[in-house]
Amino acid sequence: MSLFIPTWSSDTRLDGKTAIVTGGNTGIGKETVKDLASRGARVILACRDMAKGEQAACDIVREVKGAKVVTRQLDLADTKSICQFAENIYNTEKALHYLINNAGVAVCPSARTVDGIEMQFGVNHLGHFFLTFLLLDLLKHSAPSRVINLSSAAHFFGKIHFDDLKGEKDYHHFRAYAQSKLANVLFTRELAKRTEGITAYSVDPGFVNTDILRHIWRPLLDIVKNFGFLIKTPAEGAYTTIYCTVTPENQLVTGGYYRSAIRVVQYNCCENGCYGVYKNPLLPKTGCELRVKFHT
Ligand SMILES: NC(=O)c1ccc[n+]([C@@H]2O[C@H](COP(=O)([O-])OP(=O)(O)OC[C@H]3O[C@@H](n4cnc5c(N)ncnc54)[C@H](OP(=O)(O)O)[C@@H]3O)[C@@H](O)[C@H]2O)c1
Repeated sequence: MSLFIPTWSSDTRLDGKTAIVTGGNTGIGKETVKDLASRGARVILACRDMAKGEQAACDIVREVKGAKVVTRQLDLADTKSICQFAENIYNTEKALHYLINNAGVAVCPSARTVDGIEMQFGVNHLGHFFLTFLLLDLLKHSAPSRVINLSSAAHFFGKIHFDDLKGEKDYHHFRAYAQSKLANVLFTRELAKRTEGITAYSVDPGFVNTDILRHIWRPLLDIVKNFGFLIKTPAEGAYTTIYCTVTPENQLVTGGYYRSAIRVVQYNCCENGCYGVYKNPLLPKTGCELRVKFHT
């Protein structure tokens, strides 16, 4: 348990709803699945490693009485796998109310997807972009439906390198991550503009103690682990995703970027950087806001 004290909770039920959570086998994704299942939703864990997925599903069924969870194979680094996953969903599901694009890789050594794209941009953005595109008809058919994209505060430092989208020039692990997370935010905003009946939100879960930290510089990682109480647990990291899933639509801003569950961030963001205005919707009359300019 970290020092972050939850200030929001909801007993909203999701009976009769279907959700997909990519990377639902571990970390923030697994906690998200657990929460949605406890609200009565049928949840599909989209995992690249079926053994890990089945193990996670077993854990959840043991912990959550009556949980309706199934595991399906999805490798976001492989276009063919994404197509097969989507085909499988159309063959087995009548509706899809929540698509939670949670899976991700962070600050990893240089690697490429099966299609030859730089791994972080390929998995974190392009894979999810393609998956969402393929599932759009089902989401429309199930409207009102939601797409939630896991981004990160790192996106504030991101810049989209249109001259090198495949990442063939110089590679920098953090720059690549920041670019992929900025792409998540821009995609969310554009999706919200272009789709009727589907709302879209991007989420920053905060700094969360999960396996994603595995590529962080070792001494820094040791410090982080020693001060674990300063970073969020995976359950706390799932908090903002759950908030964007269950909060009534009229209390959310489609296309918006959310962090720490209660903070709406309204800001201008483009491929070259961001200008942020942080507003706390729980304190609407205080005029309390923080203006931040980010340079890239
Ligand atoms: N933790 C943080 O501090 C933090 C901060 C900001 C944003 N986020 C974002 O939160 C999201 C969840 O991260 P997490 O911290 O829960 O990380 P995690 O524990 O490492 O989980 C990442 C998940 O993504 C899956 N994944 C990776 N590559 C994949 C691929 N090619 N195809 C399908 N699935 C793949 C992993 O599968 P395997 O188990 O098979 O590897 C795992 O299930 C990510 O989008 C991350 O960028 C995290």
